Amino acid sequence: MKIEGKEYRTIWFENNFVKIIDQTKLPHKFIIKELKTFDDAVNAIKNMEVRGAPLIGATAAYAIVLAIKENNNLNFIKKSSEKLVNARPTAINLQWAVHRMNNKLSSVNPEDLFNVALKEVDEICNEDINFCKNIGLNGLNIIEEIYNKKKNTINILTHCNAGWLATINWGTATSPIYHAYKKGIPVHVWVDETRPRNQGANLTSFELNEEGIPNTIITDNTGGILMQRGEVDMCIVGTDRTLSTGDVCNKIGTYLKALAAHDNNVPFYVALPSSTIDWETKDYNEIPIEERNADELSYIEGKDDKNNISKILIYPEKSKSINLAFDITPAKYVTGLITEKGICKASTNGLKQMFSKL
Ligand code: MRU
Repeated sequence: MKIEGKEYRTIWFENNFVKIIDQTKLPHKFIIKELKTFDDAVNAIKNMEVRGAPLIGATAAYAIVLAIKENNNLNFIKKSSEKLVNARPTAINLQWAVHRMNNKLSSVNPEDLFNVALKEVDEICNEDINFCKNIGLNGLNIIEEIYNKKKNTINILTHCNAGWLATINWGTATSPIYHAYKKGIPVHVWVDETRPRNQGANLTSFELNEEGIPNTIITDNTGGILMQRGEVDMCIVGTDRTLSTGDVCNKIGTYLKALAAHDNNVPFYVALPSSTIDWETKDYNEIPIEERNADELSYIEGKDDKNNISKILIYPEKSKSINLAFDITPAKYVTGLITEKGICKASTNGLKQMFSKL
């Protein structure tokens, strides 16, 4: 998708290094950063210079390429992989990508490791782009159906950033929106700010603006009243891990939005590539919920009137706070899962019909 009219992907390999868009600097600064070492890639994931489940997975795969550059030895790759899977615990794409890379490399000669790894990352990224594009085309059918009845602007609420910045391109939740817009369907997006890190305001609104899609940022608590007023036609969110039961783990606050949608008969869809499905875990209480530094709540960063980016404390110094990064939306509140293969019920049966894994 575009930034200032120029097409980008979120991650690529150039001149022997990995390049990323540093998402901690958006929206006020657009900085392309080089990841030169394995540790650079791990830190980029930990510090959320790259974030969003599919992009975390792709970065992890590139991290293995960088590890091979440092030492083309299978034992080293294995040790590096262990370090990598702990960088962020909730998004299943990280483990998925690390396993896929390790499987691919397990019987490769040391001198071929680098080329084979780089080719596999390319495949992971291209596959993600295709999957996200298909999610968009499948989700477009739902938007079109609502539009054919309403014949007026479709208001879509989204949470966090499940946009192209969270993937390689297109996004998951945003892909149906981009496709609808390209088809001439009038869409408007309610963008949940998404405290504490404001991925909605800083990233989703930013990327929608760059594509010319009308959007309005709302605080995380505003969705409920908008739904009561009939000003939300549907919700589409992404996910960091969806169980084969259809239970959805996503950015903190998603659950409350799903409850409000349920109470107001607003369809609540979750868009995801199959790489985000956790086929093993059956009980959502077993999903590791990332707890991040409480400073992310108590400090806020922004641009002052002299155009300087600064960080200020907004909480009382003595107050305690807790920063859980994700929550669970039980399957019963999910209208449907929009996948690369089609739309299915958020249930074991629904996923069984869509994928042959179960
Ligand atoms: O903590 P983040 O910014 O990595 O969380 C991202 C989300 O919760 C997204 O909604 C999710 O990863 C889906 S990305 C297509």
